[in-house]
Amino acid sequence: MNLKMLEREFEAVRARNLSLNLTRGKPSGAQVSLSDSLDGILEGDFICSDGMDARNYGGLRGIPECRNLGSYLTDYPAERVIAAGNSSLHLMYLVLETIVNAGLAGSSALRGSPCRAICPVPGYDRHFAATEYLGVEMICVDLNEDGPDMDQVEDLVKEDPTTSLLWCVPKHSNPTGCTYSDDVVERIAKLPLLRDDSPTSPFFVLWDNAYAAHDFSDKPVHLSSIHDCAVAAGTLDRIVAFASTSKITHAGAGVAFLASGDRVLNDLEARLSVMIIGFDKVNQLRHARFLPNRESLSEHMKKHAAIVRPLFEATETGLQERLGNTELATWTQPDGGYFVSLDVLPGLAKEVIALAGSAGLQLTAAGATYPYGKDPADANIRIAPTFASLEEVEAAISIVGMSVQLAAARR
Ligand SMILES: Cc1ncc(COP(=O)(O)O)c(C=O)c1O
Repeated sequence: MNLKMLEREFEAVRARNLSLNLTRGKPSGAQVSLSDSLDGILEGDFICSDGMDARNYGGLRGIPECRNLGSYLTDYPAERVIAAGNSSLHLMYLVLETIVNAGLAGSSALRGSPCRAICPVPGYDRHFAATEYLGVEMICVDLNEDGPDMDQVEDLVKEDPTTSLLWCVPKHSNPTGCTYSDDVVERIAKLPLLRDDSPTSPFFVLWDNAYAAHDFSDKPVHLSSIHDCAVAAGTLDRIVAFASTSKITHAGAGVAFLASGDRVLNDLEARLSVMIIGFDKVNQLRHARFLPNRESLSEHMKKHAAIVRPLFEATETGLQERLGNTELATWTQPDGGYFVSLDVLPGLAKEVIALAGSAGLQLTAAGATYPYGKDPADANIRIAPTFASLEEVEAAISIVGMSVQLAAARR
């Protein structure tokens, strides 16, 4: 299609005054409704498996049956899991803040000395926001189809003692959807060994397994156990894993989990004890009764998959129709998670997003998937199809494709 035809087609879409939005990486109403029976599930029985009354104070590490649920999600034994409040991001902030301001599991506080976080890109904007907020400088490495570029990561860990941590979203990563290979997981578990691990130069891995159970097909994508690799490498206290039920049950009203070695858990429990007497054990019990074993979790996630899969299929079909074989863009084809990562020609992402906006489609701001909001190539766009209806996704992706074509043709 030549430029004039594209301009005309685009004007026709503009004239429709649409209002579409692909920025919201959150579950749809149909998805959260899958868990509505959480409400009332306890039927007056508040007593946990260890005899504790969930309605009363106590038990900072969480109730046993909910720590089991955390164990299914993190692949750590339940005794190495803390079942906490409603947000894993909150736990990540706690851990990062502890590393920076207090020190964790034998490390000294990093505050006051230069410290840097290794950030695979594109990545999750809220990781970057917390890291920046706490004054930790961010340094980017490439995120490949099998995980972070480990040669880059290992070089940094070996050669730059100011690098103190690595952010990871190991399964159905935000936003590319990639899952780390066995080799990458093993190399990550060994990273702390590349340092002498003196108190002043520790190296931590923050393992945010937010999409541990979020597969589109009945055959879950395999992710090697970071716990087992860390035990084998002797690095358990340098790796902290996170998960939550935010995108499993009710977003923002679920249960979050943290898993690590004993020294980390002891330090965090001590730190938490000056902030909170205990987390919401009634909600933990509701979740444990709702998802009492791995099978129930897996059946529940199949229901989510049935709702979100068609939205991702529509995204793929729409992108193929407009941009397939054009060399104007590449994009990911995730088999789980919440996002599609679209790369347009360098220097065009901002323009594409502005064009889409002018046609009534809101897209995540350009640069959001990079530290400091700066995508050096101005190429990456994060697409979040789960919160829109099928018709909205179809219309929105057509606008994305048109905007990419138009931006490229104008150039
Ligand atoms: C990678 C990742 N981690 C964490 C979260 C938020 O988790 P929570 O609701 O448990 O704080 C999200 C939400 O989009 C996410 O994409």
